[in-house]
Amino acid sequence: GEKKPLAGKRVLVTAGGTVERLDPVRYLTNDSSGKMGYAIAEEAVRMGAQVTLVSGPTALSAPAGAQLVRVQSALDMREAVLSRLDAQDVVVKAAAVADYRPAEAATQKIKKKADTLTLQLVKNPDILQEIGTLKTHQFVIGFAAETENLDDYAMDKLNRKNCDLIVGNDVSQAGAGFGTDTNIVRIYDRSGLVQALSLRSKSEVARELLQLAAQRLISVGDA
Ligand code: PMT
Repeated sequence: GEKKPLAGKRVLVTAGGTVERLDPVRYLTNDSSGKMGYAIAEEAVRMGAQVTLVSGPTALSAPAGAQLVRVQSALDMREAVLSRLDAQDVVVKAAAVADYRPAEAATQKIKKKADTLTLQLVKNPDILQEIGTLKTHQFVIGFAAETENLDDYAMDKLNRKNCDLIVGNDVSQAGAGFGTDTNIVRIYDRSGLVQALSLRSKSEVARELLQLAAQRLISVGDA
C-alpha cells in the first residue's frame, strides 16, 4: 500500500503572498500564487499528516483533507501561525510575507491631490524568525527566494531564523519561483547543501522536501 511517512504528525504550511492594505480599495502584495505551499499541503495530506494551511489570498482551492485558514496581512498570518504553533510537529513557511506594510491603512479612499505621493512603510514582524525563537520540538522549514548569491543568502537565512531546513529558490531562473507550476530548488540544513533539485513540478519538489523532513523527524524521535 501507499507509504504514510507523516502519519500522526501535525503539519502547518503557509502559502501565498500577504496583502497589506493602503485604503479600502488598494493594497500592496507580491507575485506569489500559492502553488508551492498548496502543493506541500496536498503532499503532506497524502503522506498521512493532519494539515493546516494558512494562506494569503490565492486563486487556488484548498487541498482536500487540509484545514484552510485564510488570512490577508502579515500581521494576520503571524497570529494564525503563532496561535497554532504549539500543536505542530512540522512548520513549512512557503508564504511570501511582505517585509513592510503601510504605516497607516486609511479608513477612506485616499484622494488624488498633489503630483507626488509618498507612502510610509513600516517593517512587518518576521514570522519565521519568531518561530525559530519560540520553537521547542517543531521541525521548521523556511524558504528563501533570491535573485543572486543563493547559497550564501539561503544559509544566512537558515542560521538567522533558526530553521532545520531551508529551501533556496533562485527566482531569476526560468521555470522557478513565483507563479509557475514548476520549481528549481536547493535544500540546505545547518551544515550546508543537502539536495539540489533540477526543474520539476511543485508537487515533486513538495514530495522530496517532505520526505527529507519525515526522515529527520524519525531520527529525532529515535535519538
Ligand atoms: O506561491 P508560488 O507562486 O508557488 O511561489 C513560490 C514562492 C517563490 C513564493 C516560494 O517558493 C518561496 O520562495 N517563498 C518564500 C518567499 C519569500 O518571501 O522569501 P524571503 O526570502 O523573503 O523570506 C524567507 C523566509 O522567511 C520565508 O520562509 C518567509 O515565509 C519567511 N518570512 C519572511 C518575512 C517575514 N516578515 N516573515 C516570514 O516568515
